[in-house]
Amino acid sequence: MITIIRTKNYDEMSRRAANIMAAQITLKNDSVLGLATGSTPVGMYQELIRRCEAGDLDFSRVRSVNLDEYVGLERTHDQSYYYFMNNNLFKHVNIDPAQTFLPDGTCKDTEAECRRYHDVILGMGGVDIQLLGIGGNGHIGFNEPAEAFAARTHCVQLAESTIKANARFFASESDVPRFALSMGIGEIMAAKKILILASGKAKAEAVKGMVAGPVSPQMPASILQFHPDVTLVADEEALSLL
Ligand code: PGA
Repeated sequence: MITIIRTKNYDEMSRRAANIMAAQITLKNDSVLGLATGSTPVGMYQELIRRCEAGDLDFSRVRSVNLDEYVGLERTHDQSYYYFMNNNLFKHVNIDPAQTFLPDGTCKDTEAECRRYHDVILGMGGVDIQLLGIGGNGHIGFNEPAEAFAARTHCVQLAESTIKANARFFASESDVPRFALSMGIGEIMAAKKILILASGKAKAEAVKGMVAGPVSPQMPASILQFHPDVTLVADEEALSLL
C-alpha cells in the first residue's frame, strides 16, 4: 500500500520527508533507521540536522543501517557511502557512530561480508523505517533490474545506466566502481515502514512503474506495492506521468 505525498518541488519534498523521520524518532527514540545515500535525501538530512541543532530532535539512542556501499572505495574516499553518511548526517547530529552500520566495501571476501551484514540487520531486531531513493531504472538500494528479486545483502554489478547516472560524482565515468554491496529486496521489504523520495523528471518513468506498473524484478521498486506501509514523498515532476 503506497501513500503518495505530492510536493511542489525538492525543498518541500525534503521538509515533508524530514517531518516523517522526525516523527519516527520522536515517538520511538531508539528507532532503527534504514538510511540511503544519493543526491535525493541530502535536503532531508540537512533539515534533520537543523532540527537536531535547534534541540528539537535527539539521535542519542538511534541506530542506523545503510542500504549499500561501493566495492573497492576506501572509507576515506569522498564518494564512499561511509564518507557520505558522515559528511551529510552523522557528524552533525548526536548519533553514536558505533551504532551506525554500512556494508564494508573494502572487504576481501564479499560473500562473507554480505552474510555478516545480513546478520547485522537481523541483530538490530528489525528496521523501523527504511529510507529509499529510486534510480531512473527503478532500482532501490543497488537492486538493479534483474531476472529475480534478491532476498539478502549481495554483491551487485552496477547497470550501465547507474554508472552513467553516478559518473557526475566522479572525475570520469571510468572511476565509478562497477560493483556494490546492497541490501536485498527481502531485507528492504522486512522494514516496518518505508519512506521513498523522488524528485525531478528523470524519475517520472520509474515512479510510474513503481506505483502503477506490474510488480516485476525488471522494475525493482514495483515490489513496494506489496509492502503494507509505504509513503512516497515526490515532487510534481517526479509524479508527472501518473
Ligand atoms: P539519486 O540516486 O538520489 O542520486 O538520484 C537515487 C538512486 O539511484 O537510488
